[in-house]
Amino acid sequence: MIIASANDYRKAAKRRVPPFMFHYADGGSYAEQTLARNVSDLSNIALRQRVLKDMSNLNTEIELFGEKLSMPVALAPVGALGMYARRGEVQAAKAADKKGVPFTLSTVSICPIEEVAPAINRPMWFQLYVLKDRGFMKNALERAKAAGCSTLVFTVDMPTPGARYRDMHSGMSGPYKEIRRILQGATHPFWAWDVGIKGKPHSLGNVSKYMGKEIGLDDYIGWLTQNFDPSISWKDLEWIREFWDGPMVIKGILDPEDAKDAVRFGADGIVVSNHGGRQLDGVLSSAKALPSIADAVKGDIKILADSGIRNGLDVVRMIALGADACMLGRAFVYALGAAGQAGVENMFDIFNKEMRVAMTLTSNQKISDITREALVDLSKI
Ligand code: FNR
Repeated sequence: MIIASANDYRKAAKRRVPPFMFHYADGGSYAEQTLARNVSDLSNIALRQRVLKDMSNLNTEIELFGEKLSMPVALAPVGALGMYARRGEVQAAKAADKKGVPFTLSTVSICPIEEVAPAINRPMWFQLYVLKDRGFMKNALERAKAAGCSTLVFTVDMPTPGARYRDMHSGMSGPYKEIRRILQGATHPFWAWDVGIKGKPHSLGNVSKYMGKEIGLDDYIGWLTQNFDPSISWKDLEWIREFWDGPMVIKGILDPEDAKDAVRFGADGIVVSNHGGRQLDGVLSSAKALPSIADAVKGDIKILADSGIRNGLDVVRMIALGADACMLGRAFVYALGAAGQAGVENMFDIFNKEMRVAMTLTSNQKISDITREALVDLSKI
């Protein structure tokens, strides 16, 4: 099929990826209202067309945490990428590396830190969840540091997992024996035998490394679901600081008061995010939450934003609303599932071209030129 936009990868992934994995990425929590609003609120923001200002020296590069990025974009942490393509984390990381942007490895990756970090030339970012097993957290931080990871993305909006009804219908969540039944029927050898199904334990990412043994997918999921920790508080940030002295980004901020606390507790950045509509349904879209957060902390801390970004125009919109950079989630998962590393590379090219057109026609030559002036204030029309 013809791939013109990154959205086409969604259709391609739907054909190629096993249904329960496609819906795991595509779906959100509860009635999926926030998931839908993330996309519609962003696309409803009108860009302000300006012309005749010589845009021949366009530049999409930025600097972030001492790193040079070819565009203001990083890959968001996404768990289980190795189930969307064989050794999927490595494929996505290589694509990001080739295109000059950071890749963030999820805590719950299929490939461990030690496999992905050496596969790329630029430093990897690492995402950490707070888990009851603090020994795991400490071990993961030490391993991330030893592997040369540059930035820590500390995700704080998962003290308890939101219910994903779509996953219950597809068999992705529910009794383990149901998951095992579905996995045993799997006909996709490129991912199936990598993740310890058919009763055969396999090396499953950072958890296997920590446990020092191979485990099966059901043990992995069992370990994880018992381990989310509702006791998480700002004190955990201080604890993490004992083991991590590099840049730290707090992911899952949706309120200006929490953004101010992140500044107070010495974070280097925040990700304005509702986890792609996968946690508390009914909360604000990131696009609607971002302006008041930017008013509260812009300049004091780096602001990243994600949730609902599906093309380069959306990146420009988020920057105009106050973000310094964006994270891409589903957009790259679909591309990875549909076409592996080459798909993710192409997705970056598509985004970059779209950004360039949006910058040219809003008359913004560089990223730091993009302000709310790039948007039409619809309330005044
Ligand atoms: C995620 N996300 C996520 N976040 C995180 O901090 N750790 C993780 O392991 C995961 N895993 C994960 C799996 C899948 C399949 C998806 C789709 C998302 C959330 C992710 O980092 C990001 O916040 C959202 O994906 C952004 O929303 P969009 O762009 O996907 O709409």
